[in-house]
Amino acid sequence: MHEFHYVAGKLFCEGVSIESLVRKHGTPLYVYSQRTLASHFSKLDAALAPLDHLICYSVKANSNIAVLRALASLGSGFDVVSEGELRRVVAAGGPPKICAFAGVGKTEPEIEFALRRGIYSFNVESEPELERINRVAGRLKKAAPVAVRVNPNVDAGTHAKITTGTYETKFGIAFEQVEDVYARASELKNLRLRGLQMHIGSQLTGVKPFELAVRKVVPLVGMLAARYQLEFFSIGGGLGIVYQPALASGGADWWQKPQAKNILTPAKYAATLVPLLRPLKLRILIEPGRFIAGNAGILVTRVEYVKRTGRKNFVIVDAAMNDLIRPAFYDSYHEIVPLTRRNGPLITSDVVGPVCESGDYFAKNRPLPKVGEGECLALMSAGAYGSVMASNYNTRALASEVLVHGNKSAVVRQRQKLRDIWKDEKLPAWLK
Ligand code: LLP
Repeated sequence: MHEFHYVAGKLFCEGVSIESLVRKHGTPLYVYSQRTLASHFSKLDAALAPLDHLICYSVKANSNIAVLRALASLGSGFDVVSEGELRRVVAAGGPPKICAFAGVGKTEPEIEFALRRGIYSFNVESEPELERINRVAGRLKKAAPVAVRVNPNVDAGTHAKITTGTYETKFGIAFEQVEDVYARASELKNLRLRGLQMHIGSQLTGVKPFELAVRKVVPLVGMLAARYQLEFFSIGGGLGIVYQPALASGGADWWQKPQAKNILTPAKYAATLVPLLRPLKLRILIEPGRFIAGNAGILVTRVEYVKRTGRKNFVIVDAAMNDLIRPAFYDSYHEIVPLTRRNGPLITSDVVGPVCESGDYFAKNRPLPKVGEGECLALMSAGAYGSVMASNYNTRALASEVLVHGNKSAVVRQRQKLRDIWKDEKLPAWLK
């Protein structure tokens, strides 16, 4: 479900027209819907109600502190992968004691910071990392809560760049080795074995890979939990969302629309997984990012030029791959709609940004309504892995971000000032 819809032909986010936001804040502009974030969180929370569970929102999907605050106020925990993300959670008022720290490359200062803050668990990805955490914890005279990330070697059937649960990837510890690793970890004095974790990939649109992985890992968790008094099992994130068509199917009952019939809903996810997980009698963590934030945000961009080359119709917009890299990086689909709905003929177009690379596109050969210079388009489903993956490539400023709540809106990230892009750069003495 999401709260972007046309009202009398104009695109709105909740009770606020996108045109009014563009007039106030310019473009490119990220717009987030707080009600959508909250409803995604609540749907998942309700579906998992039969379990003792904790949702740890995956901060990497959208780490704006207003988004984190909105989720913290609903009782969300957080999945973080760096000191920076943990500091953001703290800045947003989120409690470290329900934060899990993941990632294959945690540095000593990061481990120390997380220990001092009192996080819930480190999700550990290798034996050298276990030893390092043990060492740092010893120095600080603390017991470090840890969970080993098991790699179940199950193919998530998603894009290769976001598949994480097979032995081809750098993630986790191979299923067959996990028992021995717990045995060795139990001898490290400054560790507290608290749980077991897995995450097989992102944007999974069916429940089957989750089911396979959970079925495979549950007996192992059961055995380790009994042996080491583990308290939790984290099944990771990865719930996919509807990218196509995000808007046409918008509305309270989007998953009942025929085009979205096969989408993975929280109810389907829970119906399959809850019966497998419940007998464990453990606390179940999940780490959704995209499911919560993906359809809660759009990127609004202005048409600068329409260029017809004889072969193609290029709609050149003022957002670029530096603002939203997903199409360039994963060939991913984002629905593109005008801010004013229209019915005329569709023109097959490429929607491209101004960056000097032919990979800088948002859509290729896409039937789109006729648009002209100065009109705005919305790139849908840009709330997750959008602004967080932005860069200053081509010395382009990071876009503004606005959060909408009912009829209210507020800037939650100011447009970056151009001079701030190079403010940390210095001339060496010999060039002055
Ligand atoms: N837990 C772990 C350990 C993860 O690595 C991830 C995502 C998540 C949870 C959250 O996954 P989600 O629920 O959002 O699928 N930039 C890519 C996605 C990268 C996902 C990385 N890990 C994209 O734009 O599609």
